[in-house]
Amino acid sequence: MNEAMLPIGAPPVTASYQEYREMMQLYEGAIREVRTKVEVLDAEFRVRYDRNPIHHIDTRLKSPASIAEKLRRKGYPATLESAEEHLTDIAGVRIVCNYLEDIYRIAELLTRQNDVELVRRSDYIRAPKESGYRSLHLVVRIPVFLSSHTELVPVEVQIRTIAMDFWATLEHQLRYKSDQETTRQLRRRLKQCAEDSARLDREMQDIYTELSAGRDGL
Ligand code: GTP
Ligand code: MG
Repeated sequence: MNEAMLPIGAPPVTASYQEYREMMQLYEGAIREVRTKVEVLDAEFRVRYDRNPIHHIDTRLKSPASIAEKLRRKGYPATLESAEEHLTDIAGVRIVCNYLEDIYRIAELLTRQNDVELVRRSDYIRAPKESGYRSLHLVVRIPVFLSSHTELVPVEVQIRTIAMDFWATLEHQLRYKSDQETTRQLRRRLKQCAEDSARLDREMQDIYTELSAGRDGL
């Protein structure tokens, strides 16, 4: 438990720790629900169309240190209440797809489900970030059923291709590796890599579409 998570004038640590555990259990429940929904869709594709749109799924629960850091960075108090109110990425699910079009298909199939409420959609594929970063980001709220009540819990869902995932992972590592500010030159090269891999994604999609033309439901 990170001390910084404790509100000023907090109850004894044990009480707060219990609160923290309950909150994290809620977010963990929401992660599992989203993961299951996506796995069910993937399994249906396997049976119906003999292919898997999803390469793999990663999930993560934001660490207390990272929650506290983000709250401080945004000028909010580092308390559990404040985290609940201001952060939508405590629960994170990353869906890595084989093809570009699968991203939009999965996003559509997930958000049209009755118990999934779409809160925000940021399409960094149509409009990549300055760094070159590409992914489709959704914030959804999903009900988690507890013994006494139901809570609607936000989950950040990042959907991307294998190529986008490869780029984002390495770029992230390089960003933290460089002890000084990444130079403009290196940023430009990384951005170029993102563009090259976006071209690869489009070409693989086109080849796939052509190969599967006329076949049912792909
Ligand atoms: P944060 O305060 O960083 O969470 O920004 P935000 O809440 O405005 O969300 P945004 O949609 O910008 O990005 C959230 C997440 O997307 C980050 O935590 C990263 O996982 C990923 N991301 C965004 N931009 C980049 C980037 O330039 N490079 C990499 N590698 N990942 C990125
Ligand atoms: Mg975020």
